[in-house]
Amino acid sequence: MPATIVIGAQWGDEGKGKITDLLAEKADVVVRYQGGNNAGHTIVRDGEEFKLHLIPSGILYAAKTCIIGNGVVVDPTILFGEIDALRARGIGVDNLRLSGNAHLIMPYHLLLDGASEKRLGRFKIGTTGRGIGPAYVDKYARLGIRVQDVLDEKILRRKIRAALAEKNRLLQLYDIGVLDPEQVADQFVGYRERMEPFICDASLLANQALDDGKHVLFEGAQGTLLDIDFGTYPFVTSSNPIAGGACTGAGVGPTRIDHVIGVAKAYTTRVGEGPFPTELTDEVGDAMCEVGREFGTTTGRKRRCGWLDLVALKYAVRVSGITHLAITKLDVLTGLRTLKVCTRYKAGRKVLDEFPLLQSDFHHAKPLCDELPGWSADIRDCESWADLPEAARDYVQFIAEFTKTRVKFIAVGPGREETVVLPRSIGRGGAV
Ligand code: IMP
Repeated sequence: MPATIVIGAQWGDEGKGKITDLLAEKADVVVRYQGGNNAGHTIVRDGEEFKLHLIPSGILYAAKTCIIGNGVVVDPTILFGEIDALRARGIGVDNLRLSGNAHLIMPYHLLLDGASEKRLGRFKIGTTGRGIGPAYVDKYARLGIRVQDVLDEKILRRKIRAALAEKNRLLQLYDIGVLDPEQVADQFVGYRERMEPFICDASLLANQALDDGKHVLFEGAQGTLLDIDFGTYPFVTSSNPIAGGACTGAGVGPTRIDHVIGVAKAYTTRVGEGPFPTELTDEVGDAMCEVGREFGTTTGRKRRCGWLDLVALKYAVRVSGITHLAITKLDVLTGLRTLKVCTRYKAGRKVLDEFPLLQSDFHHAKPLCDELPGWSADIRDCESWADLPEAARDYVQFIAEFTKTRVKFIAVGPGREETVVLPRSIGRGGAV
């Protein structure tokens, strides 16, 4: 796996942390390429739980280089907090690298995120409130403050003054008051010492690693349906979690990528607002939430749960060129007599085989489902394909065939070891 991208194939929270952690063992370099501390990875290692929001999960291995790429937006206080927390648990961060081109989340971004949600009222996005959207807005408005700006006090102060000349007007509009540019600048000037040792040319580092035949893992955050271009706009995040985002967010060319692993839960969840055709608001949805411990790592919000949406998964395969699937949380479905999988949508009189282009079709989409038998035996101890009950194997095979994509991993429990790695001949998609 010289260059492998791991992405979320649904609405985020698919269990990418666990799959990345598993793959990171064989990688030399792990790169985050988009998003910020809106993400949250929970990794269970030897019974110990680690929650990371910004730093790549590869950091738990001593010898891996972990890069925060240019496509990420970085809140320095969160970065320092994670570094301190890792060090306090005996995990070194000397191999952490931070792209000089990554943008910083500024105090006014946090204020504006909250204010904009309040203004939208019942039309709110349901953001994580971490300032992610406003930071990307400034990046594209060319008003952003980048990591490398902390290395030059004069430039930093000038840029913060310029940004606040506009932001303070907005903050006043929202009745929040104003921020003092010199105070904000002092705060960020003070970050130089802590940040400087990590700053690097991330694109150069990643490409050199590939040139040297090293294994580089690109770790996506959020998921396909939260992608700013391909997600359920406007209920999306402000970056490109799809595989293409790894190229722009890490500075590597598409020709260098070997594999794209799409991570999908055996069912579907979503946090925040927006349409969700297979959502279950009954006791089955509640059971999924309870058994799957479906509460956000970042905000603690209860996740909405529903049946597996294969139309959306097929779409994720298409827009990211997913070569392999990792199906997570299969154990959560244990005990359900019948399992439904959505294979088409009905929108008004239309029956749709593909993820709809038009938002109104998706908003009105009703799932048309196939039913598959469930299983009752506990699968958490299953170590191989053969160990799984026949119905569980059929369920996975159905996913592979429908999406025409090979299933490589099946997670049967939260622990790292609770993962079935499928041999080549099994879990094959319909098309080779
Ligand atoms: P933002 O990324 O905080 O701007 O939030 C935009 C949307 O993306 C909201 O619906 C969030 O709930 C959702 N979102 C952001 N990060 C994650 C994540 O890591 N998992 C799931 N949903 C997320």
